[in-house]
Amino acid sequence: MSLEPNENTHAPRKVVIGVAGGIAAYKACHLVREFTEAGDEVRVVPTPAALNFVGAATFEALSGQPVDTGVFSRVDEVQHVRVGKEADLIVIAPATADTIARIAAGRADDLLTATVLVATCPVVLAPAMHTEMWENPATQDNVATLRRRGLTVLEPARGRLTGTDSGAGRMLEAGQIAEMARTVLEAGAYTRSLEGIKVVISAGGTQENIDPVRFIGNRSSGRQGFALADIAAHRGAQVTIVAGDTDALDTPPGAEIIKVRSTREMKEAVDTAAVDADIVIMAAAVADYRPENEAGSKLKKGQADDALSTLRLVENPDILKGLVDKRNAGETSAAIVGFAAETDNLLEYGKAKLKSKGADMLMVNSVAGGAVFGETRNSGWLIGRGGETQEIADGPKHVVAARIWDAIEEMTENRQ
Ligand code: CTP
Repeated sequence: MSLEPNENTHAPRKVVIGVAGGIAAYKACHLVREFTEAGDEVRVVPTPAALNFVGAATFEALSGQPVDTGVFSRVDEVQHVRVGKEADLIVIAPATADTIARIAAGRADDLLTATVLVATCPVVLAPAMHTEMWENPATQDNVATLRRRGLTVLEPARGRLTGTDSGAGRMLEAGQIAEMARTVLEAGAYTRSLEGIKVVISAGGTQENIDPVRFIGNRSSGRQGFALADIAAHRGAQVTIVAGDTDALDTPPGAEIIKVRSTREMKEAVDTAAVDADIVIMAAAVADYRPENEAGSKLKKGQADDALSTLRLVENPDILKGLVDKRNAGETSAAIVGFAAETDNLLEYGKAKLKSKGADMLMVNSVAGGAVFGETRNSGWLIGRGGETQEIADGPKHVVAARIWDAIEEMTENRQ
């Protein structure tokens, strides 16, 4: 999910990367790279404790800028005010329990906290600490305070911590943090607007076996579905991803992933998860047909029945349509959002598809010439039940996901 060097479409931004004293400080080096390679000007501001983990020389070399930790360095330049005032974005990674507490208390006892106190730009924190510290009511209260004030506190991942233990509190990967921070710049700070909401998202392509070595598949990467899941998780939703074939994508924090292969497997997983879901998004590229018979051994060329050249296909179930039927039968009350990949006549085909499937909303995007699949950007139109349309401007898939969620939230609020 990291930003490719040649994808820089914006003017250089002044990015402050704050680094607090935790073992995840080493990952901040990768984060500096994420931004410098995108053409941004990066200033690293570690806390004094962070330098126990990574030396100032490393950050200076990576950023090409001086590294100070105290409010009394470069006093002639009024640095403790200037760095925060000039910043377009501040990302603190890792954000330890102590640094979060000091920011929540409005302290300014080192250059990093002074910089945050001065800043009016977006501030994004990527927490990293032991599970007990993360779950402690003191930390949770501080996080809630920062969120209420409009700072974005990302969710930590679950996984291996400093020692042999594992749990919630592991810092997200540098690519994930950079992606979320760029989304905040374009789409605004995350609110916890999906707290208490259960969301099911299908992503990636399904595959249908021909024989043990061949299958019918498609070029979907799963990126848009995972971006939708990532935004939902950060807005506080309980997220289940039903994933077909996807690129190696980072797991959104807290999300449950159910891996499937065929359309029928995906249908079973989506149907089960949808029973108590509030919102289902079918972002997967579903194989419409499967071979009538899956051969148990590898098919050979030129066999008597010539099974390969006359492959007979049968239609797969339509998962989205099936969900709408289930809702009509009272088996789920979820809002249902579909996707449509079209090469031409986007709005016309999109409106017809929304109607024939009975979904509440459809995101239609153009896949002419292979666009979208595997790309990091997307664009298209959102179509509502009444035929109303909203253009989704070209942007990174996370930004597109944030816009789609804004529209879904508006739609579900209006339904209540
Ligand atoms: N979909 C589904 N089950 C299928 C096929 C599609 O649930 N068997 C869902 C997709 O996940 C998507 C929407 O239906 O949300 C539209 O998918 P798309 O492939 O664009 O449409 P199709 O119904 O397959 O129609 P066509 O390929 O003929 O355009």
